[in-house]
Amino acid sequence: MTRPSRSNHILRRSQSITDMYTRSVGAGLTGHAITERSGKTVRLADGDHCVEFVSCSYLGLEEHPRMVQAVRTALDKYGTHFSSSRNSVEPAEIRELEDLLGEIYPGMNALVFNSVSSVHLGVLPLLGAGLLPGYPVAADGPLFVIERTAHASMQAIRGVLEQTGEATRFDVEDPESFTRALRLAEGSGRTPVVLVDGIGSMGGLIDVAALSEKAAEYHGYLYIDDAHGISVSGTNGAGYAFDALGGHVPEHVLLVGSLSKAFGGSGGFLLTHAPEDIIRLRREANPMVFGHSNMITHVLANLESAATHLDGTVSTLQKNLWDNVALFDRSLGRTRNVNLVNAGSRSPIRGLAMETEEQAFHAAKRLRTAGILCFPVFYPVVAPGTGLLRFAISANHTHEQIESIAHQLSSS
Ligand SMILES: Cc1ncc(COP(=O)(O)O)c(C=O)c1O
Repeated sequence: MTRPSRSNHILRRSQSITDMYTRSVGAGLTGHAITERSGKTVRLADGDHCVEFVSCSYLGLEEHPRMVQAVRTALDKYGTHFSSSRNSVEPAEIRELEDLLGEIYPGMNALVFNSVSSVHLGVLPLLGAGLLPGYPVAADGPLFVIERTAHASMQAIRGVLEQTGEATRFDVEDPESFTRALRLAEGSGRTPVVLVDGIGSMGGLIDVAALSEKAAEYHGYLYIDDAHGISVSGTNGAGYAFDALGGHVPEHVLLVGSLSKAFGGSGGFLLTHAPEDIIRLRREANPMVFGHSNMITHVLANLESAATHLDGTVSTLQKNLWDNVALFDRSLGRTRNVNLVNAGSRSPIRGLAMETEEQAFHAAKRLRTAGILCFPVFYPVVAPGTGLLRFAISANHTHEQIESIAHQLSSS
């Protein structure tokens, strides 16, 4: 195989990745194949039963009898799939789902995509080109201002974004870097389009209210990927970012959510203020024109999930989730030598940060031996040489399952 001679980010990244992922797969710590699942217990292909803290199913909705019944109904009505591009034929239930999202987020217009990555790929180029009527862009184009920890699905399309303008990065931990980026946009006559997560997939909560205020000062837009924040908090499960913004979406903010995590279905959605944006996106966003519509079974599951958000079912599950998160913090907080990432925060994700990859590998192995699955991550997910055990906490975990982690890590 011939190797490209030119150095680039992908090559450099690959050169810094150690064999830790491969070793972890070999040791049965990650890369699992499962054959069954019941609550938080999964059966692995080798027959072992384990308790998992891996799935981003923060509310456990995908096992709710109403959701399961919705999928059965979809199969009876449509078969497994309707294969057409989204903007040629789509099941009527997608429109109903978008209407219900409009009730969860009053006053907003929702557009559902197959995935959050598809939202980014569909929306950001049109936004950058100044083609969304609700979000006009300066004649000199946009400056995409990408937060250092913003999800990889936004970072990876930087080259695409640069077809419509320039891009730079900032670090939310370094407010000066944000101000510098906004001034750069101002000085070059560009509209800043700030890309951030709401609840970080590995880190903590982003202060979206402060970023929103500052972006507005510079006549910019704030584009929030709150994939992990949807459903877990807020009235009707509107989520972390919506709540943090004061229960509404300011005029200069675009909010993106996931239907594949706590929502219990699959896909992603965008919320905009102007119905004209939706018309343009349906007609011109790449995934709408060239991609399939969401799988029919998931459309109906998503629709049922939206109903559970609006009828109070989700608020009970939220309470169970946050009780479990508090228990996790209490029990791990009592464990010696533990560096607990996100402790005390309104994120359903916790991490045990380790100084070396080897430490993370051995801690994951210890848990695996006790029948507990976490998600051990290494570079490029965390800094080179370090490791982190990631835990996704769910309303469906039992107290005993949660307490077993601290028990295993503290017993010698
Ligand atoms: C914050 C965030 N954004 C986007 C994605 C990508 O989601 P999707 O698979 O729906 O494209 C993820 C995936 O887990 C995520 O954590």
